[in-house]
Amino acid sequence: MNVLVLGSGGREHALALKISESKLLKKLYVMPGNPGTSKFAKNVDINPLDKVEVLKFCLRNQINLIIPGCEIYLEKGISDYFIKAGIHVFGPIKKAAKLESSKEYAKQLMEKYNIPTAKYEVFKDYKKALKYIDENEVPIVIKYDGLAGGKGVVVAFTKEEAKLTLDKMLVQKKYGDSKVIIEEYLEGPEFSLMCFVDNNIVIPMPICQDHKRLLDNDLGPNTGGMGIYSPVPIIEEKDIDWSIKNIMEKTVEALKNEGILYTGFLYGGLIKTIDGPKVIEFNVRFGDPEAEVLMPKLESDILEIIDSLRLKEKIEVSWNKDYVLGVVLASNGYPVSYDKGKIIENANEINNLYHMGTKKEFENLVTNGGRVLFVYGKGKTLLEAKENAYRDIERIKCKNLFYRKDIGYKSINA
Ligand code: AMP
Ligand code: GLY
Repeated sequence: MNVLVLGSGGREHALALKISESKLLKKLYVMPGNPGTSKFAKNVDINPLDKVEVLKFCLRNQINLIIPGCEIYLEKGISDYFIKAGIHVFGPIKKAAKLESSKEYAKQLMEKYNIPTAKYEVFKDYKKALKYIDENEVPIVIKYDGLAGGKGVVVAFTKEEAKLTLDKMLVQKKYGDSKVIIEEYLEGPEFSLMCFVDNNIVIPMPICQDHKRLLDNDLGPNTGGMGIYSPVPIIEEKDIDWSIKNIMEKTVEALKNEGILYTGFLYGGLIKTIDGPKVIEFNVRFGDPEAEVLMPKLESDILEIIDSLRLKEKIEVSWNKDYVLGVVLASNGYPVSYDKGKIIENANEINNLYHMGTKKEFENLVTNGGRVLFVYGKGKTLLEAKENAYRDIERIKCKNLFYRKDIGYKSINA
């Protein structure tokens, strides 16, 4: 099989590395890829959003399978386009990608099919939204109804903060001209439940716990994710089984009822409340950094999984029992503004490392994004995995990088 992975981050690095070990693989391309993927795959310097050029590339190189990494490609209908051209895409069609790109759509679907989630209201009008804030209690959650790179959600602990957020989203239109969802605040441990999906078949992966806040002790603004671990001992097996059946399988079924057949990764961002697990959000792609801790746990051949789904066959997937814990090294100033082009030393010496936002400048590896590197450790316990990850991080030298020191604390201190 000739495979093309679209993207350039840590998720694509982790995914592509796993694909490179598949016995079904003939040739692997990553578009555009990063300095990490260039070691085992061929990086292709074409913009994945330039569908015509990508198609020419696919035809020239007899690509059999495309795996889009990020939601933007899916929202722009990349799957629809390549499926029409006869190439298998492991990623949902545009209509299904709405589950992530429109929070209002996701909420309506959950409401219609009785999939548990927070109560909500939708607003376009700033004054009406302000009134709603006045009439309701804090904490309250405000979400921009569109793609905002993981930054369009604010948990407001004061009415002041809620009103400033509404001003940013509905008056200044910081993320675009869409609506906001104002949502009930839910409490409990969060977890990510990722599945491989093809229409009727839903194959769950081990759960992860992401750390979305920028700073230690979950302080600071939300980010794309600062660190993660898997599995998550504080979430019980019965809650996971319940969520697979009553959230993930039910959502795929709901979409089918709406005439939408879902293919690809389906990501449930869930929270275990006192009333049971509920949905915080859905994503229509592999998680980042979830992929970076799940791929080191996957023992099965990933292309075999994806190909068996294409053939509508359910296969047994095996995962090792290790704990994997990973930490994001981000540029100072992330998620607001940050410099690029800062030299990174010693990254090459570390095995358990994925490139999230780097590039090669002459002979140097330099920073090239907000989230720059992902370093993980493995262990028989979570603590051992954590110690292994942080030991490797110490070896990396770069003046412009910072990282959280407490990844895994909720389970380690439980
Ligand atoms: P999202 O981008 O929707 O996953 O939201 C980012 C983060 O905001 C989540 O991981 C939660 O920590 C927090 N969050 C979102 N919605 C809620 C909610 N209804 N109640 C409490 N926290 C929330
Ligand atoms: N783990 C956060 C995300 O992939 O959106």
